[in-house]
Amino acid sequence: MGELKKVGVVGAGMMGAEIALSFAQAGYDVTLKDATLELAQRGKDRLGGVLDKSIKKGKLEGDKKEPILSRITPTDQYEPFKDVDLVEEAVFEDFEVKRQVFKELDKVCKPDCIFATNTSSIPITRLATSVEKGRIGQFIGAHFFSPASVMKLVEVIPGLETKEETVVFMMDCIQKIGKNPIRVKDVCGFVVNRILHAMWIEANRLLEEGVATPEDIDTGCKLGLGHPIGPYALMDLTGNDLNLQVQQILYEAYGERFKPRPILKQKVDAKHLGRKTKRGWYVY
Ligand SMILES: NC(=O)c1ccc[n+]([C@@H]2O[C@H](COP(=O)([O-])OP(=O)(O)OC[C@H]3O[C@@H](n4cnc5c(N)ncnc54)[C@H](O)[C@@H]3O)[C@@H](O)[C@H]2O)c1
Repeated sequence: MGELKKVGVVGAGMMGAEIALSFAQAGYDVTLKDATLELAQRGKDRLGGVLDKSIKKGKLEGDKKEPILSRITPTDQYEPFKDVDLVEEAVFEDFEVKRQVFKELDKVCKPDCIFATNTSSIPITRLATSVEKGRIGQFIGAHFFSPASVMKLVEVIPGLETKEETVVFMMDCIQKIGKNPIRVKDVCGFVVNRILHAMWIEANRLLEEGVATPEDIDTGCKLGLGHPIGPYALMDLTGNDLNLQVQQILYEAYGERFKPRPILKQKVDAKHLGRKTKRGWYVY
């Protein structure tokens, strides 16, 4: 297994662009691909604003911004992936779309390149079948959290046929970019989403029973549990449509304990999706 020098990221959306930034901030050259050059460039352009915020908060020196951004090269081609040591895939959460991306990467990437996916809900073992047999041992999950350039946790998820040296390599890469990896088995929801959604479903039960308001439940979690943000403020950030979709997947996997509450379905029906529609559990 080679040393990490160059990184490729596919998907320059909300997650992919900031994952690219995390590697660039740690000094790595990153190729950032999207379906079109315009989308890839737009993903990179958003990162200027992310770095400006860090500068404003005093977390980054102003003269570091341009050198960091210059390490990220947007593209709509697979060809520049031929000499990367690690690829992180962050395209739409759709098995067929991801499978096609991995098939293309498998054709151009060098034999020892590691393939990682940011999927939140598709089994790593199933996605790994997208690549030729010889590379299956180098296929792994590396699940970042939003906003990926800020959040320190990455769940590292070996599939059934992932080699141990791939796990070690991936854990090491995550540490090299200043983040904290945790090793997790390939189960639906991994660790953090299972805990998060169990809590959100319970919060919605409390709300349905009229036990407390969203504001007071948020205050309870912040001041009583030390959470930096309450469940309702966080649900509004991630979006209730996505929250419902994830709970439906967890419900299919684990049954009754993850059954989405009617109040969440009603919010989605009403298009109270959260910050993106200016109304969710709160009005913005
Ligand atoms: N949003 C989150 O909070 C979050 C957290 C953890 C993991 N994830 C996972 O990360 C992945 C990406 O999520 P996101 O929120 O960034 O989505 P997004 O919709 O913001 O971005 C996806 C990007 O992939 C691009 N894309 C689609 N097909 C492509 C292709 N064939 N080639 C190249 N680019 C392509 C799209 O144009 C888009 O820019 C998903 O698997 C999601 O489950 C999301």
